[in-house]
Amino acid sequence: MKVLVDRREALASTADATVSALFERGEKDDTFPRALAKEEEASRGALKAAWNRREIRGKRKEVTIFHRANGASRLVLVGLGPRSTYSAETVRRAAAEAVKALKGKGARTIAFRLPAFAVDPVDAEAAAQALVDGAVLGGYDFVKYKSTTEGAVEESTIHLGEEHVRNEAAIKRAVNQEVEIVDTVVWARDIANLPADTATPERLAEEAVALGKELGLKVTVFDEKKLAEMGCGGILAVGSGSSHPPRMISIEYPGGARRGRTIAVVGKGITFDSGGISIKPALHMGEMKFDKSGAVAVLGIMRAAATLKVPPRVVGVLCCAENLPSGTAYRPGDVVRTFNGKTIEVANTDAEGRVVLSDGLGYVVQHYRPDEVIDLATLTGAQVVALGDDTAGLVSNDEKLAQGLLSASAATGEPLWRMPLTDYHRELVKSEVGDVRNSIEIPLAGMLTAAAFLENFVGGTPWAHLDIAGAAYTTVSTRKYQPAYQNAGATAFGVRVVTRYLMDSPRG
Ligand code: BES
Ligand code: MN
Ligand code: ZN
Repeated sequence: MKVLVDRREALASTADATVSALFERGEKDDTFPRALAKEEEASRGALKAAWNRREIRGKRKEVTIFHRANGASRLVLVGLGPRSTYSAETVRRAAAEAVKALKGKGARTIAFRLPAFAVDPVDAEAAAQALVDGAVLGGYDFVKYKSTTEGAVEESTIHLGEEHVRNEAAIKRAVNQEVEIVDTVVWARDIANLPADTATPERLAEEAVALGKELGLKVTVFDEKKLAEMGCGGILAVGSGSSHPPRMISIEYPGGARRGRTIAVVGKGITFDSGGISIKPALHMGEMKFDKSGAVAVLGIMRAAATLKVPPRVVGVLCCAENLPSGTAYRPGDVVRTFNGKTIEVANTDAEGRVVLSDGLGYVVQHYRPDEVIDLATLTGAQVVALGDDTAGLVSNDEKLAQGLLSASAATGEPLWRMPLTDYHRELVKSEVGDVRNSIEIPLAGMLTAAAFLENFVGGTPWAHLDIAGAAYTTVSTRKYQPAYQNAGATAFGVRVVTRYLMDSPRG
Protein backbone atom coordinates (compact mmCIF):
# COMPACT_ATOMS: atom_id res chain seq x y z
CA MET A 1 0.00 0.00 0.00
CA LYS A 2 1.29 3.40 -0.94
CA VAL A 3 1.09 6.05 1.81
CA LEU A 4 1.06 9.79 1.13
CA VAL A 5 0.82 12.96 3.19
CA ASP A 6 -1.30 15.85 1.91
CA ARG A 7 -1.97 19.27 3.39
CA ARG A 8 -5.39 19.68 1.79
CA GLU A 9 -8.64 19.08 3.67
CA ALA A 10 -9.51 15.36 3.77
CA LEU A 11 -13.21 15.97 3.46
CA ALA A 12 -12.67 17.52 0.03
CA SER A 13 -10.60 14.56 -1.15
CA THR A 14 -11.56 12.65 -4.28
CA ALA A 15 -10.36 9.36 -2.78
CA ASP A 16 -12.82 6.46 -2.82
CA ALA A 17 -13.38 6.91 0.90
CA THR A 18 -12.56 9.55 3.48
CA VAL A 19 -12.10 8.30 7.03
CA SER A 20 -12.72 10.40 10.11
CA ALA A 21 -13.29 9.46 13.75
CA LEU A 22 -15.17 10.29 16.90
CA PHE A 23 -14.89 9.57 20.59
CA GLU A 24 -17.56 7.64 22.41
CA ARG A 25 -20.23 9.67 24.18
CA GLY A 26 -21.85 8.61 27.42
CA GLU A 27 -25.24 6.89 27.13
CA LYS A 28 -27.10 9.94 28.38
CA ASP A 29 -25.21 12.54 26.41
CA ASP A 30 -27.22 13.15 23.25
CA THR A 31 -25.72 16.45 22.16
CA PHE A 32 -24.16 16.22 18.73
CA PRO A 33 -20.33 16.32 19.06
CA ARG A 34 -18.96 19.73 18.17
CA ALA A 35 -15.79 18.14 16.84
CA LEU A 36 -17.82 16.67 13.98
CA ALA A 37 -18.96 20.02 12.56
CA LYS A 38 -16.88 19.69 9.38
CA GLU A 39 -17.88 16.07 8.85
CA GLU A 40 -21.52 17.00 9.37
CA GLU A 41 -21.26 19.70 6.75
CA ALA A 42 -19.58 17.32 4.32
CA SER A 43 -22.28 14.71 4.90
CA ARG A 44 -24.97 17.29 4.16
CA GLY A 45 -26.97 16.45 7.24
CA ALA A 46 -26.71 12.66 7.03
CA LEU A 47 -24.36 12.50 9.99
CA LYS A 48 -26.60 14.42 12.35
CA ALA A 49 -29.57 12.32 11.27
CA ALA A 50 -27.64 9.13 12.03
CA TRP A 51 -26.60 10.60 15.36
CA ASN A 52 -30.18 11.45 16.25
CA ARG A 53 -31.24 7.91 15.35
CA ARG A 54 -28.48 6.76 17.77
CA GLU A 55 -26.88 4.87 14.93
CA ILE A 56 -23.45 6.22 15.76
CA ARG A 57 -22.04 6.75 19.23
CA GLY A 58 -18.27 6.49 18.71
CA LYS A 59 -17.92 3.10 20.32
CA ARG A 60 -14.82 1.07 19.58
CA LYS A 61 -15.14 -1.00 16.38
CA GLU A 62 -18.13 1.07 15.27
CA VAL A 63 -17.75 1.84 11.55
CA THR A 64 -20.42 3.77 9.66
CA ILE A 65 -20.22 4.40 5.92
CA PHE A 66 -22.08 7.40 4.46
CA HIS A 67 -22.57 7.53 0.73
CA ARG A 68 -22.42 11.03 -0.65
CA ALA A 69 -24.11 12.19 -3.80
CA ASN A 70 -22.47 13.38 -7.05
CA GLY A 71 -19.65 10.86 -6.96
CA ALA A 72 -18.07 12.47 -3.91
CA SER A 73 -15.92 10.27 -1.73
CA ARG A 74 -17.69 7.99 0.72
CA LEU A 75 -17.48 9.29 4.26
CA VAL A 76 -16.48 6.73 6.88
CA LEU A 77 -16.83 7.43 10.60
CA VAL A 78 -14.95 5.14 12.93
CA GLY A 79 -15.42 5.00 16.70
CA LEU A 80 -12.43 5.59 19.00
CA GLY A 81 -14.08 4.46 22.22
CA PRO A 82 -13.96 6.54 25.41
CA ARG A 83 -11.64 9.54 25.47
CA SER A 84 -10.13 8.25 28.74
CA THR A 85 -8.62 5.15 27.09
CA TYR A 86 -7.34 6.92 23.98
CA SER A 87 -3.73 6.29 22.89
CA ALA A 88 -1.74 5.60 19.72
CA GLU A 89 -3.02 2.04 19.96
CA THR A 90 -6.59 3.36 19.64
CA VAL A 91 -5.61 4.95 16.33
CA ARG A 92 -3.92 1.78 15.05
CA ARG A 93 -7.02 -0.25 15.75
CA ALA A 94 -9.47 2.31 14.40
CA ALA A 95 -7.56 2.73 11.12
CA ALA A 96 -7.52 -1.04 10.69
CA GLU A 97 -11.26 -1.27 11.43
CA ALA A 98 -11.93 1.25 8.66
CA VAL A 99 -9.69 -0.47 6.13
CA LYS A 100 -11.24 -3.87 6.92
CA ALA A 101 -14.77 -2.45 6.64
CA LEU A 102 -13.92 -1.08 3.18
CA LYS A 103 -12.39 -4.35 1.99
CA GLY A 104 -14.09 -5.76 -1.07
CA LYS A 105 -16.13 -2.57 -1.50
CA GLY A 106 -14.16 -1.07 -4.32
CA ALA A 107 -12.19 1.40 -2.23
CA ARG A 108 -8.77 1.62 -3.88
CA THR A 109 -7.79 4.93 -2.33
CA ILE A 110 -8.49 6.17 1.20
CA ALA A 111 -8.09 9.60 2.76
CA PHE A 112 -7.57 9.81 6.54
CA ARG A 113 -8.46 13.02 8.34
CA LEU A 114 -5.54 13.45 10.74
CA PRO A 115 -7.15 16.07 13.03
CA ALA A 116 -9.78 13.51 14.06
CA PHE A 117 -7.11 11.00 15.08
CA ALA A 118 -4.38 13.24 16.52
CA VAL A 119 -5.72 14.35 19.89
CA ASP A 120 -3.72 15.32 22.97
CA PRO A 121 -1.62 13.54 24.35
CA VAL A 122 -0.89 11.73 21.06
CA ASP A 123 1.01 14.19 18.84
CA ALA A 124 0.47 14.47 15.11
CA GLU A 125 3.59 12.46 14.23
CA ALA A 126 2.66 9.57 16.50
CA ALA A 127 -0.96 9.60 15.32
CA ALA A 128 0.12 9.63 11.67
CA GLN A 129 2.45 6.70 12.34
CA ALA A 130 -0.36 4.81 14.05
CA LEU A 131 -2.58 5.45 11.01
CA VAL A 132 0.16 3.97 8.83
CA ASP A 133 0.34 0.88 11.08
CA GLY A 134 -3.40 0.36 11.11
CA ALA A 135 -3.95 0.98 7.40
CA VAL A 136 -1.05 -1.07 6.05
CA LEU A 137 -1.15 -3.94 8.55
CA GLY A 138 -4.94 -4.05 8.63
CA GLY A 139 -4.96 -4.10 4.83
CA TYR A 140 -2.65 -7.11 4.69
CA ASP A 141 -3.77 -10.46 3.33
CA PHE A 142 -1.69 -13.44 2.26
CA VAL A 143 -2.69 -13.76 -1.40
CA LYS A 144 0.28 -15.53 -3.02
CA TYR A 145 -1.70 -18.69 -3.73
CA LYS A 146 -5.09 -17.10 -4.50
CA SER A 147 -6.21 -17.03 -8.10
CA THR A 148 -8.78 -14.36 -7.32
CA THR A 149 -8.63 -11.68 -4.63
CA GLU A 150 -10.89 -9.02 -3.21
CA GLY A 151 -9.70 -5.60 -4.27
CA ALA A 152 -7.25 -4.27 -1.71
CA VAL A 153 -6.71 -0.66 -0.72
CA GLU A 154 -3.83 0.57 -2.85
CA GLU A 155 -3.22 4.03 -1.50
CA SER A 156 -3.77 5.79 1.82
CA THR A 157 -3.33 9.53 2.15
CA ILE A 158 -3.00 11.23 5.50
CA HIS A 159 -4.54 14.68 5.25
CA LEU A 160 -3.22 17.26 7.69
CA GLY A 161 -5.29 19.83 9.51
CA GLU A 162 -4.43 23.53 9.39
CA GLU A 163 -2.76 23.17 12.77
CA HIS A 164 -0.38 20.56 11.33
CA VAL A 165 0.82 22.39 8.25
CA ARG A 166 3.78 24.12 9.92
CA ASN A 167 4.83 20.66 11.11
CA GLU A 168 4.49 19.03 7.72
CA ALA A 169 8.14 18.10 7.21
CA ALA A 170 8.37 16.31 10.57
CA ILE A 171 5.10 14.47 9.96
CA LYS A 172 6.28 13.36 6.53
CA ARG A 173 9.54 12.11 8.00
CA ALA A 174 7.70 10.17 10.71
CA VAL A 175 5.31 8.68 8.18
CA ASN A 176 8.07 7.61 5.80
CA GLN A 177 9.96 5.95 8.62
CA GLU A 178 6.87 4.04 9.72
CA VAL A 179 6.16 3.00 6.13
CA GLU A 180 9.61 1.36 6.01
CA ILE A 181 8.79 -0.60 9.15
CA VAL A 182 5.32 -1.80 8.15
CA ASP A 183 6.47 -2.61 4.61
CA THR A 184 9.04 -4.85 6.26
CA VAL A 185 6.34 -6.42 8.45
CA VAL A 186 4.29 -7.17 5.32
CA TRP A 187 7.37 -8.62 3.61
CA ALA A 188 8.08 -10.81 6.65
CA ARG A 189 4.45 -11.94 6.94
CA ASP A 190 4.60 -13.10 3.32
CA ILE A 191 7.63 -15.28 4.12
CA ALA A 192 6.27 -16.56 7.44
CA ASN A 193 2.98 -17.61 5.80
CA LEU A 194 4.79 -19.75 3.19
CA PRO A 195 4.29 -23.50 3.55
CA ALA A 196 7.16 -25.74 4.60
CA ASP A 197 7.63 -27.34 1.17
CA THR A 198 8.63 -23.91 -0.10
CA ALA A 199 10.15 -22.18 2.90
CA THR A 200 12.92 -24.71 3.53
CA PRO A 201 16.12 -23.86 5.43
CA GLU A 202 17.88 -23.41 2.05
CA ARG A 203 15.14 -21.02 0.94
CA LEU A 204 15.49 -18.93 4.11
CA ALA A 205 19.22 -18.77 3.39
CA GLU A 206 18.44 -17.57 -0.15
CA GLU A 207 16.14 -14.88 1.24
CA ALA A 208 18.93 -13.73 3.56
CA VAL A 209 21.46 -13.65 0.73
CA ALA A 210 19.09 -11.67 -1.49
CA LEU A 211 18.42 -9.23 1.35
CA GLY A 212 22.15 -8.84 1.93
CA LYS A 213 22.69 -8.03 -1.77
CA GLU A 214 19.89 -5.49 -1.76
CA LEU A 215 21.01 -3.66 1.36
CA GLY A 216 24.76 -4.24 1.24
CA LEU A 217 24.88 -6.49 4.32
CA LYS A 218 27.38 -9.26 4.90
CA VAL A 219 25.57 -12.60 4.89
CA THR A 220 27.19 -15.93 5.76
CA VAL A 221 25.41 -19.25 5.23
CA PHE A 222 26.66 -22.24 7.21
CA ASP A 223 25.65 -25.47 5.50
CA GLU A 224 25.59 -28.91 7.11
CA LYS A 225 29.27 -29.53 6.33
CA LYS A 226 30.36 -26.26 7.86
CA LEU A 227 28.05 -26.77 10.84
CA ALA A 228 29.72 -30.13 11.51
CA GLU A 229 33.18 -28.51 11.38
CA MET A 230 32.03 -25.84 13.81
CA GLY A 231 30.61 -28.37 16.26
CA CYS A 232 27.00 -27.25 15.94
CA GLY A 233 25.58 -30.60 17.03
CA GLY A 234 22.24 -29.13 18.04
CA ILE A 235 21.12 -27.79 14.67
CA LEU A 236 22.50 -30.88 12.94
CA ALA A 237 20.61 -33.25 15.26
CA VAL A 238 17.28 -31.45 14.79
CA GLY A 239 17.73 -31.31 11.02
CA SER A 240 18.87 -34.90 10.63
CA GLY A 241 15.40 -36.31 9.93
CA SER A 242 14.71 -34.11 6.91
CA SER A 243 15.87 -34.24 3.31
CA HIS A 244 16.09 -30.44 3.50
CA PRO A 245 19.40 -29.93 5.30
CA PRO A 246 19.73 -27.39 8.13
CA ARG A 247 21.31 -23.97 7.76
CA MET A 248 22.63 -21.38 10.15
CA ILE A 249 22.71 -17.91 8.65
CA SER A 250 24.34 -14.75 9.94
CA ILE A 251 23.59 -11.25 8.70
CA GLU A 252 25.68 -8.25 9.74
CA TYR A 253 24.66 -4.62 9.73
CA PRO A 254 27.70 -2.49 10.64
CA GLY A 255 25.87 0.25 12.56
CA GLY A 256 26.10 3.99 12.57
CA ALA A 257 29.53 4.29 14.19
CA ARG A 258 32.87 2.58 13.70
CA ARG A 259 33.20 1.27 17.20
CA GLY A 260 29.76 1.19 18.73
CA ARG A 261 27.64 -1.25 20.62
CA THR A 262 26.76 -4.60 19.10
CA ILE A 263 23.33 -6.14 19.54
CA ALA A 264 22.76 -9.72 18.41
CA VAL A 265 19.32 -11.00 17.41
CA VAL A 266 18.85 -14.76 17.14
CA GLY A 267 15.78 -16.50 15.71
CA LYS A 268 14.34 -20.00 15.85
CA GLY A 269 13.81 -21.12 12.27
CA ILE A 270 12.09 -24.51 12.36
CA THR A 271 10.56 -24.61 8.89
CA PHE A 272 8.20 -27.36 10.02
CA ASP A 273 7.86 -28.84 13.48
CA SER A 274 6.21 -32.25 13.36
CA GLY A 275 7.70 -32.98 16.77
CA GLY A 276 10.07 -35.50 15.19
CA ILE A 277 10.13 -38.99 16.77
CA SER A 278 8.20 -37.47 19.72
CA ILE A 279 5.55 -36.73 17.11
CA LYS A 280 2.76 -34.20 17.62
CA PRO A 281 -0.96 -34.99 17.26
CA ALA A 282 -2.33 -34.51 13.73
CA LEU A 283 -4.91 -31.83 14.60
CA HIS A 284 -3.57 -28.37 13.69
CA MET A 285 -0.12 -29.75 12.93
CA GLY A 286 -0.12 -27.59 9.79
CA GLU A 287 0.29 -24.54 12.02
CA MET A 288 3.81 -25.70 12.64
CA LYS A 289 4.89 -24.13 9.35
CA PHE A 290 4.89 -20.99 11.52
CA ASP A 291 7.64 -22.43 13.71
CA LYS A 292 10.15 -20.46 11.63
CA SER A 293 8.62 -17.16 12.74
CA GLY A 294 11.49 -16.18 15.05
CA ALA A 295 14.00 -16.49 12.22
CA VAL A 296 11.70 -14.63 9.83
CA ALA A 297 11.36 -11.85 12.42
CA VAL A 298 15.16 -11.64 12.51
CA LEU A 299 15.19 -11.24 8.72
CA GLY A 300 12.68 -8.42 9.12
CA ILE A 301 14.59 -6.79 11.96
CA MET A 302 17.79 -6.80 9.88
CA ARG A 303 15.95 -5.34 6.90
CA ALA A 304 14.42 -2.56 8.99
CA ALA A 305 17.62 -1.89 10.95
CA ALA A 306 19.64 -1.46 7.76
CA THR A 307 17.00 0.58 5.94
CA LEU A 308 16.49 2.94 8.87
CA LYS A 309 20.20 2.93 9.75
CA VAL A 310 19.75 2.31 13.48
CA PRO A 311 22.68 3.45 15.68
CA PRO A 312 24.12 0.16 16.99
CA ARG A 313 25.79 -2.59 15.02
CA VAL A 314 23.33 -5.47 14.65
CA VAL A 315 24.06 -9.11 13.97
CA GLY A 316 21.21 -11.43 13.06
CA VAL A 317 21.48 -15.21 13.30
CA LEU A 318 18.85 -17.60 11.94
CA CYS A 319 18.86 -21.20 13.19
CA CYS A 320 17.03 -23.14 10.50
CA ALA A 321 16.11 -26.82 10.38
CA GLU A 322 13.12 -29.00 9.68
CA ASN A 323 12.02 -31.30 12.52
CA LEU A 324 10.76 -34.56 10.98
CA PRO A 325 10.68 -38.20 12.06
CA SER A 326 12.65 -40.62 9.88
CA GLY A 327 15.25 -43.38 10.06
CA THR A 328 17.93 -40.73 10.26
CA ALA A 329 16.16 -38.48 12.76
CA TYR A 330 17.53 -37.75 16.22
CA ARG A 331 15.74 -39.57 19.00
CA PRO A 332 14.77 -39.25 22.65
CA GLY A 333 17.73 -40.27 24.79
CA ASP A 334 20.36 -38.96 22.36
CA VAL A 335 23.04 -36.67 23.74
CA VAL A 336 24.29 -33.89 21.46
CA ARG A 337 27.30 -31.63 21.85
CA THR A 338 26.72 -28.00 20.94
CA PHE A 339 28.91 -25.15 19.74
CA ASN A 340 29.94 -23.92 23.19
CA GLY A 341 30.87 -27.44 24.32
CA LYS A 342 27.86 -28.06 26.53
CA THR A 343 25.95 -31.29 26.02
CA ILE A 344 22.20 -31.67 25.74
CA GLU A 345 20.25 -34.73 26.74
CA VAL A 346 17.38 -34.99 24.26
CA ALA A 347 14.46 -36.03 26.45
CA ASN A 348 11.92 -35.07 23.79
CA THR A 349 12.58 -34.39 20.12
CA ASP A 350 9.66 -31.94 20.11
CA ALA A 351 11.61 -29.56 22.35
CA GLU A 352 13.77 -28.83 19.29
CA GLY A 353 13.71 -25.03 19.27
CA ARG A 354 15.97 -24.68 22.28
CA VAL A 355 18.32 -27.27 20.73
CA VAL A 356 18.87 -25.23 17.53
CA LEU A 357 19.11 -22.01 19.53
CA SER A 358 21.85 -23.47 21.72
CA ASP A 359 24.20 -23.38 18.71
CA GLY A 360 23.00 -20.00 17.44
CA LEU A 361 23.36 -18.33 20.83
CA GLY A 362 26.66 -20.06 21.59
CA TYR A 363 28.04 -18.99 18.22
CA VAL A 364 26.89 -15.40 18.31
CA VAL A 365 28.18 -14.66 21.82
CA GLN A 366 31.55 -16.23 21.16
CA HIS A 367 32.10 -14.90 17.65
CA TYR A 368 30.75 -11.35 17.99
CA ARG A 369 31.02 -10.66 21.74
CA PRO A 370 27.78 -8.61 21.57
CA ASP A 371 26.80 -6.16 24.31
CA GLU A 372 23.31 -7.66 24.27
CA VAL A 373 21.61 -10.64 22.73
CA ILE A 374 17.88 -10.96 22.03
CA ASP A 375 16.32 -14.20 20.84
CA LEU A 376 12.90 -14.67 19.28
CA ALA A 377 11.33 -18.12 19.20
CA THR A 378 7.99 -19.87 18.91
CA LEU A 379 9.34 -21.92 21.76
CA THR A 380 6.60 -23.33 23.98
CA GLY A 381 2.94 -24.24 24.05
CA ALA A 382 3.13 -23.19 27.71
CA GLN A 383 3.63 -19.59 26.60
CA VAL A 384 0.34 -19.70 24.71
CA VAL A 385 -1.46 -21.19 27.71
CA ALA A 386 -0.04 -18.54 30.03
CA LEU A 387 -0.42 -15.39 27.90
CA GLY A 388 -2.58 -16.20 24.89
CA ASP A 389 -1.79 -15.24 21.32
CA ASP A 390 -1.69 -11.49 21.84
CA THR A 391 1.22 -11.09 24.24
CA ALA A 392 4.70 -12.58 24.01
CA GLY A 393 6.67 -13.77 27.05
CA LEU A 394 9.83 -11.86 27.96
CA VAL A 395 12.55 -13.43 30.07
CA SER A 396 15.77 -11.57 30.74
CA ASN A 397 18.87 -11.66 32.92
CA ASP A 398 19.32 -7.90 32.53
CA GLU A 399 17.15 -5.11 33.99
CA LYS A 400 18.11 -2.42 31.52
CA LEU A 401 17.56 -4.56 28.47
CA ALA A 402 14.22 -5.81 29.80
CA GLN A 403 13.05 -2.27 30.59
CA GLY A 404 14.19 -1.04 27.17
CA LEU A 405 12.18 -3.75 25.44
CA LEU A 406 9.14 -3.04 27.61
CA SER A 407 9.21 0.64 26.63
CA ALA A 408 9.58 -0.28 22.97
CA SER A 409 6.65 -2.62 23.46
CA ALA A 410 4.47 0.13 24.91
CA ALA A 411 5.36 2.42 22.00
CA THR A 412 4.64 -0.09 19.25
CA GLY A 413 1.68 -2.01 20.60
CA GLU A 414 3.45 -5.37 20.40
CA PRO A 415 2.70 -6.54 23.96
CA LEU A 416 5.39 -8.20 26.06
CA TRP A 417 4.99 -9.54 29.58
CA ARG A 418 8.03 -10.21 31.69
CA MET A 419 8.22 -13.57 33.45
CA PRO A 420 10.64 -14.62 36.20
CA LEU A 421 13.70 -16.83 35.84
CA THR A 422 15.01 -18.33 39.08
CA ASP A 423 17.28 -21.08 40.39
CA TYR A 424 14.17 -23.23 40.64
CA HIS A 425 13.91 -23.28 36.84
CA ARG A 426 17.67 -23.69 36.43
CA GLU A 427 17.61 -26.71 38.73
CA LEU A 428 14.82 -28.36 36.76
CA VAL A 429 16.71 -28.44 33.45
CA LYS A 430 19.84 -30.15 34.79
CA SER A 431 20.53 -33.52 33.19
CA GLU A 432 21.71 -36.78 34.74
CA VAL A 433 23.65 -37.83 31.66
CA GLY A 434 24.70 -34.51 30.14
CA ASP A 435 24.81 -30.84 31.12
CA VAL A 436 21.18 -29.91 30.40
CA ARG A 437 18.06 -31.75 29.28
CA ASN A 438 15.75 -30.26 26.69
CA SER A 439 12.53 -31.29 28.39
CA ILE A 440 11.65 -32.11 31.97
CA GLU A 441 8.56 -34.10 30.96
CA ILE A 442 6.56 -32.63 33.84
CA PRO A 443 4.09 -29.81 33.18
CA LEU A 444 5.84 -27.18 35.31
CA ALA A 445 6.53 -23.66 34.05
CA GLY A 446 7.26 -24.76 30.48
CA MET A 447 8.04 -21.27 29.22
CA LEU A 448 10.54 -20.74 32.01
CA THR A 449 12.32 -24.08 31.96
CA ALA A 450 12.86 -23.41 28.25
CA ALA A 451 14.35 -20.01 29.11
CA ALA A 452 16.51 -21.56 31.86
CA PHE A 453 17.83 -23.97 29.25
CA LEU A 454 18.70 -21.16 26.81
CA GLU A 455 20.54 -19.21 29.50
CA ASN A 456 23.24 -21.89 29.42
CA PHE A 457 24.28 -20.71 25.99
CA VAL A 458 24.54 -16.93 26.40
CA GLY A 459 27.66 -17.05 28.57
CA GLY A 460 26.61 -14.24 30.91
CA THR A 461 25.85 -11.76 28.10
CA PRO A 462 22.90 -9.43 28.86
CA TRP A 463 20.14 -11.40 27.21
CA ALA A 464 16.42 -11.22 26.54
CA HIS A 465 14.31 -14.10 25.32
CA LEU A 466 11.00 -13.47 23.56
CA ASP A 467 8.75 -16.51 23.45
CA ILE A 468 6.47 -15.64 20.53
CA ALA A 469 4.69 -19.02 20.25
CA GLY A 470 1.28 -17.40 20.53
CA ALA A 471 1.86 -14.00 18.99
CA ALA A 472 3.65 -15.22 15.85
CA TYR A 473 0.32 -16.09 14.24
CA THR A 474 -3.17 -15.21 15.34
CA THR A 475 -6.40 -17.11 14.80
CA VAL A 476 -8.54 -14.85 16.91
CA SER A 477 -7.58 -11.23 16.89
CA THR A 478 -9.08 -8.48 18.98
CA ARG A 479 -6.98 -5.95 17.07
CA LYS A 480 -7.87 -5.64 13.43
CA TYR A 481 -4.34 -4.83 12.36
CA GLN A 482 -3.36 -8.35 13.36
CA PRO A 483 -4.63 -11.11 11.07
CA ALA A 484 -7.27 -13.60 12.17
CA TYR A 485 -6.83 -16.77 10.14
CA GLN A 486 -6.26 -20.44 10.85
CA ASN A 487 -3.38 -20.86 8.44
CA ALA A 488 -2.60 -17.47 6.94
CA GLY A 489 -2.27 -15.51 10.16
CA ALA A 490 1.46 -14.75 10.40
CA THR A 491 1.93 -11.48 12.28
CA ALA A 492 5.72 -11.06 12.00
CA PHE A 493 5.54 -10.22 15.71
CA GLY A 494 8.83 -8.91 17.01
CA VAL A 495 9.82 -6.86 13.97
CA ARG A 496 8.21 -3.69 15.25
CA VAL A 497 9.15 -3.96 18.91
CA VAL A 498 12.77 -4.98 18.38
CA THR A 499 13.32 -2.48 15.55
CA ARG A 500 11.98 0.20 17.86
CA TYR A 501 14.35 -0.95 20.58
CA LEU A 502 17.28 -0.72 18.15
CA MET A 503 16.23 2.73 16.95
CA ASP A 504 16.18 3.97 20.53
CA SER A 505 19.49 2.28 21.43
CA PRO A 506 22.55 4.43 21.94
CA ARG A 507 25.36 4.13 19.45
CA GLY A 508 28.25 3.69 21.83
N1 BES B 1 7.03 -25.19 18.26
C1 BES B 1 6.60 -25.74 19.49
C2 BES B 1 5.91 -24.73 20.40
C3 BES B 1 4.60 -24.18 19.91
C4 BES B 1 3.42 -24.71 20.36
C5 BES B 1 4.57 -23.07 19.09
C6 BES B 1 2.22 -24.17 19.95
C7 BES B 1 3.37 -22.53 18.69
C8 BES B 1 2.19 -23.08 19.11
C9 BES B 1 7.80 -26.29 20.24
O1 BES B 1 8.83 -26.79 19.47
C10 BES B 1 7.32 -27.43 21.08
O2 BES B 1 6.89 -28.39 20.53
N2 BES B 1 7.43 -27.28 22.40
C11 BES B 1 7.03 -28.29 23.30
C12 BES B 1 8.11 -28.45 24.33
C13 BES B 1 7.93 -29.61 25.24
C14 BES B 1 8.10 -30.91 24.48
C15 BES B 1 8.95 -29.52 26.35
C16 BES B 1 5.72 -27.84 23.95
O3 BES B 1 5.57 -26.66 24.23
O4 BES B 1 4.86 -28.69 24.15
MN1 MN C 1 8.51 -28.79 18.93
ZN1 ZN D 1 9.00 -26.00 17.62
